[in-house]
Amino acid sequence: MTAPTALKIRHATEADLGAINRIYNYEIEHGAATWDVEPWSAGQRLAWWSEHNDPLQPVIVAEDGAGVVGFAYLTLMSRKHGWRFTREDTIYIDEQARGQGVGTALLGALLEEARAIGVRLVVASITSTNEVSIRLHRRFGFEVMGTLRNAGYKFGEWMDTTYMQVDLGVASGG
Ligand SMILES: CC(C)(COP(=O)(O)OP(=O)(O)OC[C@H]1O[C@@H](n2cnc3c(N)ncnc32)[C@H](O)[C@@H]1OP(=O)(O)O)[C@@H](O)C(=O)NCCC(=O)NCCS
Repeated sequence: MTAPTALKIRHATEADLGAINRIYNYEIEHGAATWDVEPWSAGQRLAWWSEHNDPLQPVIVAEDGAGVVGFAYLTLMSRKHGWRFTREDTIYIDEQARGQGVGTALLGALLEEARAIGVRLVVASITSTNEVSIRLHRRFGFEVMGTLRNAGYKFGEWMDTTYMQVDLGVASGG
């Protein structure tokens, strides 16, 4: 799949937080990709930004002529020093813009960011029924490492999460 031609991928700024929250809060309400159940307030999103306005945990957005249509970011799995080469990825696309290559473009760019900051391992925790996300991650070399059964509960159902990882290798000089 090719990225939509008008799509631009760039680092997020504070001005994008409203769009990021709108996209994420839609999924909280309508989807099982996140097990959050209450919409995030602007204040919560700002607190998140204070952690992620950091080159080691970068946030990127995809923007078309109409505005931001998706976002993705890396989060440290642990603050313990030995974990410094590992990140978890997160990716959400506006409901209206799904299935058009935006996720593919964003995840590709996010992995480039990961390489650029010397990350070796990228981990994804994906609701096991989310075949689209599992397929997207496979496309970039992620492999399924295992499943946590009944790890979450949303919409009156127990849910499993599938852990995937991609090993980007050791950066030169790393
Ligand atoms: C999962 C998600 C990030 C994928 O992004 P996207 O822009 O919709 O995906 P793309 O258009 O780039 O397509 C990625 C792959 O999934 C396939 N795909 C996309 N939508 C699909 C659908 N509705 N049904 C089946 N396959 C689909 C594409 O064909 C493509 O496969 P290919 O690379 O083999 O051609 C996006 O749909 C989304 O934000 N979903 C809700 C939130 C979510 O699940 N986030 C991930 C949490 S782990």
